[in-house]
Amino acid sequence: MLIPAVSTGQPEIEEFLTTWFDPLIMKRHRVRKGEISLRVETLTRKGIMKIASYIPGKSIEEVQREYGAKRCVKLASNENLLGPSPKALEAIRKELPNIHFYPEGPTPLLRKALANSFSLSEKNIVTSNGADNLILMIANAFVDEGDEVIMADPTFAVYTNVTQIMGGKPIHVRLQNYTHDLDGMLNRVTRKTKLIFVCNPNNPTGTIVFKPAIDRFLSKLPGRVIVILDEAYGDFSEASLYPNGLDYVKDGKQVIALRTFSKVYGLAGLRIGYAIGREDLIHCLYQVRDPFPVHRLAQAAAVAALEDTDHILKSIQLVCEGRRYLYKELDRMGVRFVPSEANFIFIDFEREIEGVFKSLLREGIIIRPGRSWGYPTCGRVTIGRMADNRRFIKALKKILK
Ligand SMILES: Cc1ncc(COP(=O)(O)O)c(C=O)c1O
Repeated sequence: MLIPAVSTGQPEIEEFLTTWFDPLIMKRHRVRKGEISLRVETLTRKGIMKIASYIPGKSIEEVQREYGAKRCVKLASNENLLGPSPKALEAIRKELPNIHFYPEGPTPLLRKALANSFSLSEKNIVTSNGADNLILMIANAFVDEGDEVIMADPTFAVYTNVTQIMGGKPIHVRLQNYTHDLDGMLNRVTRKTKLIFVCNPNNPTGTIVFKPAIDRFLSKLPGRVIVILDEAYGDFSEASLYPNGLDYVKDGKQVIALRTFSKVYGLAGLRIGYAIGREDLIHCLYQVRDPFPVHRLAQAAAVAALEDTDHILKSIQLVCEGRRYLYKELDRMGVRFVPSEANFIFIDFEREIEGVFKSLLREGIIIRPGRSWGYPTCGRVTIGRMADNRRFIKALKKILK
């Protein structure tokens, strides 16, 4: 990509611009006197143009346009299909007349509510506009050029992107049996390792690593490595040995746990998440935080959603019941799947996923195909309301006939 040649018509400025650039760079980029023509890649930070863009799931509107499906159900982005907490909606309505005022930057009410519920200090908590943004903040704060960041393959793609943005090197360790290979990750630790992401439950496979395995893993790591436990889907785990990041934070371990209001609280569209960690680590995240990343409506809704235990329990129940229903139906059909601790299921359709994906789209059902994760016959399906799950199974029966 070339930036269009610039000709200012003012000789003194052109003289300044052309002499200001290194002669070698000028030659490489065909800079002539009076004309500046630069590849945009030379203006960005190193590697930025090589970053693969994040491909979100297809939207309902897109599928309705392209496939003419009237009633669409989106099972592609692991949202909470129960919807938002009614208490959060009420809080938003109350807050609406105040949106001409900036929000309180550090989100004091929300942090206080979170701190109370975890018996932590507010200094252990930082909020931002989604866990996505916290992942970027973590990279901004900790990853220097050349640092290595270890993560599973496949896992949540944002870890790779933020590492590359900072000029760090993502080190991918292939899943074993769809699960994080913690020993494989330990083997890849070098003097350059700065961060390790453990997505627990893992997106896209829904598997978890258990507490004894994480305890052992943490005990083997050198002190300079920070472990990021991404617990976006932790609320949906029914495993008694699910490791809670909060315990490691309370123990003073070099761990940051990530949480989001996008899943169990049903507020994905408002964009709000938080990180908990040792005070010194969280302080580093404040150093790179925008002044007002969480808007007024999101703050009010999140505080209300936290208190809405009825909605939280219903959301968890919806997922647990949906999981059991889908397991039963998939088993009956002889379709293989990975048992999940999250609000989605990774399914092996044992045929090219593109065909299954398109046939489901024609039935008005959007799932996430798995080829880009290295599983060309698999797809990730969000667990929805019972009617959504039934519709998915009905369509699948028709397609796989
Ligand atoms: C594992 C994981 N972490 C973080 C996020 C981002 O969450 P948020 O919506 O808070 O940005 C997602 C979103 O799907 C996710 O799957």
